[in-house]
Amino acid sequence: MKPIKILIIAGARPNFMKIAPIMHTMRQSAKLEPVLIHTGQHYDVQMSDTFFKELNIPHPDISLEVGSGTHAQQVARIMERFEPVCDEQKPRAILVVGDVNSTMACSIVAAKKDIKIIHVEAGIRSRDRSMPEEINRMVTDSITDILMPPSRDAVANLLAEGHCLDHIHLVGNIMIDTLLESQEMIGRSQILEKLGLNKGEYVSLTLHRPSNVDNIDNFKQILTALDHIQKELPIVFPIHPRTQKMIIRFGLEEYVSSLRNLILTEPLGYFDFGRLISQSRFVLTDSGGIQEETTVYGIPCITLRENTERPITVWEGTNELAGCDTEKIIMLAGKIMKGQWKESHIPELWDGKTAARIIKVLEDVL
Ligand code: UD1
Repeated sequence: MKPIKILIIAGARPNFMKIAPIMHTMRQSAKLEPVLIHTGQHYDVQMSDTFFKELNIPHPDISLEVGSGTHAQQVARIMERFEPVCDEQKPRAILVVGDVNSTMACSIVAAKKDIKIIHVEAGIRSRDRSMPEEINRMVTDSITDILMPPSRDAVANLLAEGHCLDHIHLVGNIMIDTLLESQEMIGRSQILEKLGLNKGEYVSLTLHRPSNVDNIDNFKQILTALDHIQKELPIVFPIHPRTQKMIIRFGLEEYVSSLRNLILTEPLGYFDFGRLISQSRFVLTDSGGIQEETTVYGIPCITLRENTERPITVWEGTNELAGCDTEKIIMLAGKIMKGQWKESHIPELWDGKTAARIIKVLEDVL
């Protein structure tokens, strides 16, 4: 029998570590034929190519090269360029991961062509519609045929939205497959030596959410907290292109460079970044995935957001929310430095076997 063709969609940095184990496992299935599509939402070497190389992701079969733009422009461009790919390839299904613009744009195209949609990381919700990703999650899940949530709270969200249990497959957290699989390479990273840091004697920071960096007041509140913390411990800050741009636009370069113990680096590759966070005293972030990775590493995480679509990292993991509230960030950092952080454990099914569960479901239901 001819294998079932599935278009695997990847667009932005947080997609790459999710599609890697899916591609590797699906390529071993006699029943499924993955075709990799890169939309080009992220295109810089450090935001894209590095991850393909490190994680051994095969070269994309098709690149849409959409680049940056406003959300409407980017989504429109992806849809326009993805439509003829569907017509040509005639897949049975597409598989999307996460919540970036590429996830939603490709899903809408597939839904209108009666191509089945598989969404890995379905059902997570921040309930904050000012966050572009929340719209992407809601729209994608509303038209998805095979929903693959990472945790039970996400299953409950999908049921509450009226999805039928038959369409929901609790598979676990796909990012953790890559994290566990990469431990040897992460252990070999020389990033600490390169930056002259010792285990447990520094803080790692990532910051790129529009709500934090596109709003000068919020950005300044965070910087004030960083100023305070860097007097106690050095802070390593691999800087996202969006954040870099906003620092220049807001004229904050001088202030940022006056923070002597704030160490700015280029965006790091997967192995270096994994080593960096896993050896930190704690992590400050507004990323989604890093809340999960710190929970698995057992490293305290202060999330610079008012809400999270990953509440399980707060209930069961090492995460606490601080928003951009200067006092709260400083207070939580102080607690960690005094050794007063909560007990945590790794959530159910975040065990490195999610890709195998995904492939099993697809072989059964497609
Ligand atoms: C996107 C995702 C976000 C994810 C983040 C991770 C959406 C809505 N947002 O946000 O969920 O957490 O990726 O990085 O899909 N740029 C470069 N080089 C690149 C890519 C972007 O310089 O390779 C610059 C562009 O000038 C662009 C800006 O960074 O305007 C922001 O990129 P964009 O893809 O719009 O959104 P992110 O903030 O990266």
